[in-house]
Amino acid sequence: MSQPLRVFATCDIGESINLLRERGYDVEVYPKPEPPPKSLIIEKLKSGIDGLITTLRDQVDAELFEAGKGHLKVVAQYAVGFDNINRADANRYRVPFTNTPDVLTEATAEFAFFMMGALARQLWNAEHLTRENKWGFWHPYLPFLGDEVTGKTVAIIGTGRIGLAMIKKCAGLDMNILCYDPVYQNHDYIKAIQELNDLRHARGISREKPWIKYVSIEEALTNADFVSVHVPLLREGESSTPTYHLFNEQTFRKMKPTAFLVNSSRGPVVDEAALAQALRERWIAGAALDVYEREPLPADSPLRDPAIADRCRLYPHFASAAKITRLSTDPDKGMAGRCVQGLIDVLEGNYGGDITKMPYVVNKEAFAK
Ligand code: GLV
Ligand code: GLV
Repeated sequence: MSQPLRVFATCDIGESINLLRERGYDVEVYPKPEPPPKSLIIEKLKSGIDGLITTLRDQVDAELFEAGKGHLKVVAQYAVGFDNINRADANRYRVPFTNTPDVLTEATAEFAFFMMGALARQLWNAEHLTRENKWGFWHPYLPFLGDEVTGKTVAIIGTGRIGLAMIKKCAGLDMNILCYDPVYQNHDYIKAIQELNDLRHARGISREKPWIKYVSIEEALTNADFVSVHVPLLREGESSTPTYHLFNEQTFRKMKPTAFLVNSSRGPVVDEAALAQALRERWIAGAALDVYEREPLPADSPLRDPAIADRCRLYPHFASAAKITRLSTDPDKGMAGRCVQGLIDVLEGNYGGDITKMPYVVNKEAFAK
């Protein structure tokens, strides 16, 4: 390379940065743990950055693409979700952007699965009881009981990669599974899970024979003991099947009063004011959230109401936060490796320079001949 390619990363993504430098890239990393102000990203872009590494904390829109005009060749997003990137703007400026699918699928699904268990079995309340020295006696049902997860019915809202991985984990607990997805249905996968269920029952591994099927959202919500959300955030106008506030007063009222909600997808999919009310007034039994309408969760969020603390589990957008998933430099194992590979593919013209063939480019439609 005559002129080194210039990359600005809005946060440190570990050892992968050094691998880029070893390839001859000139890489600048924003040194603080908080996201940089947008004005700083704009300043960097104006100075002639070729590749920008972003996270879900950065708003990527026309203002940024305008600042990068003539230089910026790729935005490499360190996340599977990309609702922080204005796709129409990226397409207008003809800048490909990449994401990091697959490598966080199992970690995210496993976290959703554990959230469900923590909520149902009252792990937080149970630990507080012990730590605060309020465990005065062992008793058949005092001071509270949890709900079993094994054999219950779970609704999987969104059967993309993460939803399917969640199904696989729930099947391990002999759960009945109601699947809902407005756009992507994987009937082969569901059939394979049923075959596994049948075999486990036939061989005496499961006492009951669990079932799995695609249903309407009504049927999913009204029959589920657990509802786990795995949809991307799509706002009105971005899709014919928007997911913004998919969970709202009407949907909470459809759920069973004994049911639990688990959200590891995107915060704005859930109307938090309506959820807080649903929890206060016990329209549903509980909720576990890893994502919020505003992140980090504001101090005055209604979800922090101490009156619902026993049934509202709150986590800090942590589902993919596992060591290999976040930091492995191997593009087949880690978000860091995959993010950097997406960047390299575009900047070094892999796949014969054909952007539509690059596996991690999201907005291929802008480059179709
Ligand atoms: C995390 O939320 C991601 O989209 O990767
Ligand atoms: C994203 O990876 C999804 O499962 O929808």
